[in-house]
Amino acid sequence: MKWLVAFIILTTFYPNSLDAVPTVEKKHPVNPEQMGGHYQGDMVFPEDAATKGAASRPTWQHWPSGVIPYDMTSSILSNHSALILDAMRRMENLTKVNDRMCIQFRPKTNTDPIFITIKNGTGCSAHVGYLQNFTLNRTLTLMYAPPYTCMITGIIQHELLHILGFFHEQSRPDRDDYVSIQWENIINGTEFNFAKYSVDDIDSLGLPYDYGSVMHYAGNAFTSNGQPTIIAKRNITSTLGQRVGMSSIDIAEVQRYYGCLTAPTSSLSPKLITSISLKLVLLIFHIGLFCIDLVKMNTFNF
Ligand SMILES: *[C@@H]1O[C@H](CO)[C@@H](O)[C@H](O)[C@H]1NC(C)=O
Ligand SMILES: *[C@@H]1O[C@H](CO)[C@@H](O)[C@H](O)[C@H]1NC(C)=O
Ligand SMILES: *[C@@H]1O[C@H](CO)[C@@H](O)[C@H](O)[C@H]1NC(C)=O
Ligand SMILES: *[C@@H]1O[C@H](CO)[C@@H](O)[C@H](O)[C@H]1NC(C)=O
Ligand SMILES: *[C@@H]1O[C@H](CO)[C@@H](O)[C@H](O)[C@H]1NC(C)=O
Ligand SMILES: *[C@@H]1O[C@H](CO)[C@@H](O)[C@H](O)[C@H]1NC(C)=O
Ligand SMILES: *[C@@H]1O[C@H](CO)[C@@H](O)[C@H](O)[C@H]1NC(C)=O
Repeated sequence: MKWLVAFIILTTFYPNSLDAVPTVEKKHPVNPEQMGGHYQGDMVFPEDAATKGAASRPTWQHWPSGVIPYDMTSSILSNHSALILDAMRRMENLTKVNDRMCIQFRPKTNTDPIFITIKNGTGCSAHVGYLQNFTLNRTLTLMYAPPYTCMITGIIQHELLHILGFFHEQSRPDRDDYVSIQWENIINGTEFNFAKYSVDDIDSLGLPYDYGSVMHYAGNAFTSNGQPTIIAKRNITSTLGQRVGMSSIDIAEVQRYYGCLTAPTSSLSPKLITSISLKLVLLIFHIGLFCIDLVKMNTFNF
């Protein structure tokens, strides 16, 4: 039953202090619970599914050949679909190895049984990984409902990295060596967002902990009182997280995870992979596999 109690709602709330987010006014992040029940139990995924710089362990979480077919729905405004496509092109370019594409996003065709649906909705959220053999609609939800928006290059890339199979940076098993979680400053009831995954579940791909990852929470995520919830232990002046775009370590992670650059071999036994798979299969039919990130914007200065 370990996996039952290990359900995690990976909820990231990006306050307006991130570099990517232009802001006039700095204030406490909005309590997600004030945002109209956006954090319900349908947006959960199991700890045991986790893996990244935090990359998904099971090999069936990789998109075959690194190709991700997408369906851009009409709920996305045309200028925003242009922004999303630009974010994709940047990721493709950044992760190229010897001028060859490592990952590729392309419009789905009738012969693609598995694809992602990109749509407007509530919050910024994404299924994590390929989810081979799962019968479900893989979605990338990017909200545009001023003052809320996910239409920022770094946020789009963050969600696309979830699609590619990555989790949040501060979920790494070694995170306590690099950051200190300030439990007393975290909004009551949201502590689960700061869960740490085990070495069995997370593949850090032989890459160092990355304060500057586009997959890292901000230092004041889920603060109840304006005080930090995550503090860097090593480079204390480091800004935690950013939503500008993939860091060099994020790029290397994708290259390694998709086999475009050799990663040190990880030591997960086939037996363990099987057990993780079974747990995930059991879970998925009950709840679904999501990662949600929610953004509050007070101002737009594009
Ligand atoms: C896209 O268009 C909408 C509606 O015209 C506008 O409000 C928004 O600022 C535009 N977004 C960008 C990123 O250009
Ligand atoms: C990606 O690379 C191609 C080919 O080099 C280039 O034409 C394009 O402008 C680049 N796109 C972005 C968004 O960087
Ligand atoms: C996106 O969905 C939200 C509700 O979830 C709605 O308020 C908003 O108007 C929608 N935006 C567009 C561009 O359709
Ligand atoms: C998915 O189905 C294929 C074909 O039946 C099978 O070979 C593969 O092992 C399955 N993958 C998982 C993760 O169950
Ligand atoms: C996927 O989406 C389609 C079309 O919106 C819907 O008919 C179908 O029931 C959905 N499937 C699942 C498994 O949710
Ligand atoms: C948080 O919840 C605990 C137990 O539910 C309670 O004892 C505590 O007073 C709460 N703290 C705040 C700041 O609301
Ligand atoms: C700390 O900063 C040094 C120098 O900038 C850098 O080499 C190192 O990778 C950083 N460590 C972490 C954990 O970010």
